Amino acid sequence: MQDQLTALVARATADLAALNARPEFEAAKARYVGPNGELTALMKQMGSVPKEQRPAVGRLINEAKARLQAQLDAALARIAAAELAAQLGPAVDVTLPSPDAGPGTRHPLTLVREEMCRILRKVGFAVADGPEVETEYYCFDALNTPSDHPARDAQDTFYFPASTRFGNVSKMNPEEKYLLRTHTSSVQIRTMLKGPPPIRIVSPGRVYRRDTTDATHSANFHQLECLYVDQHVTVRDLKALLDYIFASLLGPDTKTRFRPHYFGYTEPSFEVDLTANHLPKVKKDWIEIGGCGMVDPAVFEAVGYDPERWSGYAFGMGLERLAMLLYGIDDIRYFYQNDLRFLKQFA
Ligand code: DAH
Repeated sequence: MQDQLTALVARATADLAALNARPEFEAAKARYVGPNGELTALMKQMGSVPKEQRPAVGRLINEAKARLQAQLDAALARIAAAELAAQLGPAVDVTLPSPDAGPGTRHPLTLVREEMCRILRKVGFAVADGPEVETEYYCFDALNTPSDHPARDAQDTFYFPASTRFGNVSKMNPEEKYLLRTHTSSVQIRTMLKGPPPIRIVSPGRVYRRDTTDATHSANFHQLECLYVDQHVTVRDLKALLDYIFASLLGPDTKTRFRPHYFGYTEPSFEVDLTANHLPKVKKDWIEIGGCGMVDPAVFEAVGYDPERWSGYAFGMGLERLAMLLYGIDDIRYFYQNDLRFLKQFA
């Protein structure tokens, strides 16, 4: 009996060590310890063992049983680990950098916005912010743009239905018409209502217009607004600042010119053109880049500034247009498509 048990354990040890799948394991388990298994058969022979030998044989059987069970447990653990590994796939070292995700790049509009703010901060302008959901008051009325002005037309402006409720409803004015701001000029009013002059702010931000998208139009785009209010401000100061900005951003050979224009919030008003022979998209052409002028006395009155005492200039321009000239981009839609082949070209 002892020899039989030793032989059985030795055979089972070799057998079980070679198992690597669950069905084989179940079959081996049945073969050794199942109701018709080999160890079970030996245990059944206990009846024929002489009484005085039974305790010793019983101990041997128990030992053999324990060793077999240990082998079975080990085989099952090994198979379960292999199954899990197969499910998980190849080992991954999560501490390694991922293979193809290089460092991100900043969006070209971010680059131009940050550079413009840096250029303007150098000469004393502070960055100011305003909401994209505006009221007719900030976007038009206070900017001396009367209700029959075409800029207010529903064809150009996205108005919210009168029933629209925004986050902090208690701050909403029930008398007001709400809209998506069509220009960043609304920040001029918000800034002036906050405190007295002198004021020197730059406000970049997103604006919205009912435009059909094509290579040069987008229903939302970005502008940069500047406002300077102090005493004895002149058109010369305005022209000098614009020359400084464009020379800094686009290169010292960039030139600007003013063309008379009309804006309700400035008097006189101008459109600004620039030329930059070194930029392939500009060459010797004059490209319109924004609007500007001397703050209209009616705007000062709207915010409670004395127009006899204070003077100022303001201008606004599109950031997309600037970025297109600077980087030689042909189509405004590239800015919003998030195509990595485009984005990766900007550092
Ligand atoms: N708000 C004008 C636009 O969207 C641009 C502009 C013109 C801004 C004259 C100004 C300004 O501050 O004085 O086309």
